[in-house]
Parts: sequence; C-alpha cells; structure tokens
Amino acid sequence: MQGLKRLQEAIERHRENKDINIKYKTPLTIRNINTFTDEQAIDDACNPIRCNRSVRISEWVRGVQRVGFNVQKTSIESEAIEGALPLAANSPQKCPYGLYNEKLSGTAFTAPRDDNLQSWLYRILPSASHQNFEPVPDSSAQSLNSPSPQYGKHFNAIPNQLRWDPFDFDKEVSWIHSLHLLAGAGDPTMKSGIAIYIYAAGASMPEKSAFYSADGDFLIVPQHGVLDIRTEFGKILVRPNEICVIPRGIRYHVALHDNEPVRGYILELFQGHFKLPELGPIGSNGLANARDFQSPVADFIEDYEDTEWTLYAKFDGKMFSAKQSHTPFDIVGWHGTFYPYKYDLGRFNPVGSISYDHPDPSIFTVLSAPSLPHGPGTAVADFVIFPPRWLVQENTFRPPWYHRNTMSEFMGLIHGNYDAKGAGKGGFQPAGASLHNTMSGHGPDMQTFEKASTMDLPPSKVGEGSMAFMFETCLMLGVTEWGLKTSQKVQEQYNAHSWQPLKVHFKRPDKASGATNGDKK
Ligand SMILES: [Fe+2]
Repeated sequence: MQGLKRLQEAIERHRENKDINIKYKTPLTIRNINTFTDEQAIDDACNPIRCNRSVRISEWVRGVQRVGFNVQKTSIESEAIEGALPLAANSPQKCPYGLYNEKLSGTAFTAPRDDNLQSWLYRILPSASHQNFEPVPDSSAQSLNSPSPQYGKHFNAIPNQLRWDPFDFDKEVSWIHSLHLLAGAGDPTMKSGIAIYIYAAGASMPEKSAFYSADGDFLIVPQHGVLDIRTEFGKILVRPNEICVIPRGIRYHVALHDNEPVRGYILELFQGHFKLPELGPIGSNGLANARDFQSPVADFIEDYEDTEWTLYAKFDGKMFSAKQSHTPFDIVGWHGTFYPYKYDLGRFNPVGSISYDHPDPSIFTVLSAPSLPHGPGTAVADFVIFPPRWLVQENTFRPPWYHRNTMSEFMGLIHGNYDAKGAGKGGFQPAGASLHNTMSGHGPDMQTFEKASTMDLPPSKVGEGSMAFMFETCLMLGVTEWGLKTSQKVQEQYNAHSWQPLKVHFKRPDKASGATNGDKK
C-alpha cells in the first residue's frame, strides 16, 4: 500500500508541474526522481497513450527489469519461480523442478567475450519439440505480405530521393501479415544486410501462436498503438516513443493493447547485433545511457496437455509454420546476455554544439551495429533519433546541411514536425518515411533554407513534441514493389517541391568580374 500511495503522489506531483510537457515525453519528464517507482509513475503519466487509457501501472512495473545494456558484459538472470536456475552450473544432471535446459546462442560459441551473446533457458519442454515446418502459402492470411523467393531481386535500387505519405492502417490483419517489406539490401542466408518493414496491424495474433525470425534481429519503432508482446523471456509493453529489440530466433506473440491498431517501422539486422556507440571525448555518460535499457522478467504459461500451438518462422524471407503440442512460452528461468530489451527515447541525452556549426547527425546515435568489413567506425545499421533539443549556435545555419553520403539514410517520423522539412500534406508526416540513398543529394527544402539562412539566432528549442528517427546504413538500399507501387504512397513531386525551387543567391562581387577561373554563360 505504501508503494501505491507513493505512486499516486508522484503522478500528482507530475501533473502539478506545468513545466513538463505531458503530451510527449522529453528528458524533462524524468526530473525530481527519488525512486524507481516515482520514475515509473512519471513515465506513465507522461505517456500520451497511458494518459488516456486504463493500463494497470502495477502490471507495467512488474513486467520489466532494469538491465543496463549488454555492453556492460554482465549476465543477467530472471526466475518466475525461485530456484528455477541451477546453482553454480548451467547443465546439471537434473535441472530444478524437472525443467529442461536449453542454450540460445546469438553469436558463435567462440565469439570474443566482448561480442559473445548467449542465454541459458530453463523450460518445461525444449523448443525442438514440434511437427515439421511447412511453407505458408502466399495466399494465406498468415503469410508474409512481401515474400521473397529470390531475396535480392525484390529490391529496386534507384538514385532518386524518395518520400512516402503516411502508411495506411490495415485493421484486418495481425502482426505477421502486417509486415510490409519496404526496402533492404543483402541476403539473410549470407547473414549480410538489412531489411526495413512497415507494420500496420488491426488484430492480435491468434491466441495460441508465436512467431520468430531466423533472418535477423528486429528493431521495432512503434509509431501508433501499444504492442503487447509476450516473448519467451517474458512480457514487454512497447509504446510509441519507445523502441524494442527482439533478437534473432526468439519466439514472441504480439497482441494489441485495448484493441488499438498498431503501426510503426522495423529494421531487421541480418548481421551482428546492436551495441551502444562509443562515447569518445563525450565521456562515460550521455546519449543512450546503459542503465535505461529494460528487459522482461521470466513469465511462463503452463500449457502442454491436450493443446495445439502454431509456430511461425520467417526463414530466408519466407514464412513457414509448424504445429506443436505445448506452448513455446514455458521458460521458468533464464540467465545470460542474449535477450529482448526496450528503451524509452525520452531518456536520450542529446549532445550538441555550444558555439558554432553542428556536429554530424551521428551525435544522436542510440544504437549501432558495426560492419567491420566496411571499415572502422562504419555501421551496417545505426539507429539515430532527432529528439527535442536546444540550439544555441551563433552565426550558424542550424538545420542539417546539404550533403551527399556514402551511407544510405532512411527516415521516419513518430510524431510532431521534423525541423528540416515541411510538414502537413505532401510533406514529411508522422507514419511517413523518406529514403536518401547512397550519394543522393538532400538537405533542407527551399522554404526551410530561406527561413534558416535569414532568421535571428537566439537560443531556441527545436523538435518540441516531435520525434524523428533515421536508419542509416553503409549499404545501398533497394525498394520493393510494395514500396514503390503497391502502397501508393510515394510522393512523386518530392524533389520538385523540395529542391528544384531552390533559388540562386550567388552574386559575383564587382572586383571579380574578370575572375581567372569561373566563366559566365
Ligand atoms: Fe542526410
């Protein structure tokens, strides 16, 4: 009762604080925190969805544990029944309570300690116990929306800048059929490359079903609606302005919360895993802090008598299904370094210039998946955000500069207006997207340039109530037929509206009329 009272007091304190933006979470929302419970209450009170829905806070508090991040190289553990984890051994002759043990490897056994990701699972029945997998027909509601019999051939690599209007909800389908492959590069069979999906589901997955991708890790960025995810490791509730990562192979079930449709973005990583970026001279804290990552606590279902579950597997871009006579969600205890996790983007600590110019956008990297074959400091995928932040630079063009990049940049918008692009119809809108591929020039549109190059420059806050993000990759991205045509969301006039109207401001100074180099036609 004491805990509940403190919880209510924390919410009241928060509501009385007029300085705090309660519509959207910002780093300001986690001030004046005394305890974990207070923090959770403020977090809940600030959440745009939580404010209007009757979510049980106690359920939320119990459902996660603060794990730091596996960059800390420490193994974590969780037991749904005390004593489910064996003491001082991973594979005793008999596991506690008659459980089976099973090892889940996210890296090769022999990966260096700094990269090694493995977990030990103690479960009622091993995951190996199931009937044969069969391909799911493309016509089935449970197939993938964009199956890929020949993976690379589904991608159209084009140099044009691309922007998409907001993607539609599909209220009829569940998680599995809602995955629209939009863009990507590489090949999951070679464990090389990435894929980008848009998801839009209006139904929960059938009750006794589970899904996993053998192709890669899913980084899920909700834009609308709450994902109520039950994983083998426990439950994770993921809301807009939060992200979660479900590593390769982990089984999970996605349900809607309060029957609200869901929509968002996914980056699938075929190679490696996400890490926190190095901080260099920034020091030991900043950007995404390790302590703010959260993982589920062990939570199991006892269902193995006279029952049938369907397990869906995404394998080389195609969907398979198998029946099994027990639930896949039967892990009573687990420990290790390979597990799903979530992160609240409102806790990101942005760092920027306090004098002139602004750093490269890599300064806003939340998570990074390095690609050593492409060179030091190069990522097959960076997850970067553009959170609310203060700009104070003097004599500086404050929006992003014009540039061409060997990296490809896919952007999405969770909510609000992105400061470098026009908003509203025909602009860069929440649930829309843009792709600036390898060496495709881009930057602020004409209106943004004209304004930003002439405006006064007092300290100002940008991105208030907004959260844009970028999937940046060293690979050249191709777009699927769904992305280019079927979705009918491509803004054909993107360049015509953004950059072709740019005016010439160049004036040759009088004394340079006879310039040695530089002709005028
Ligand atoms: Fe860019």
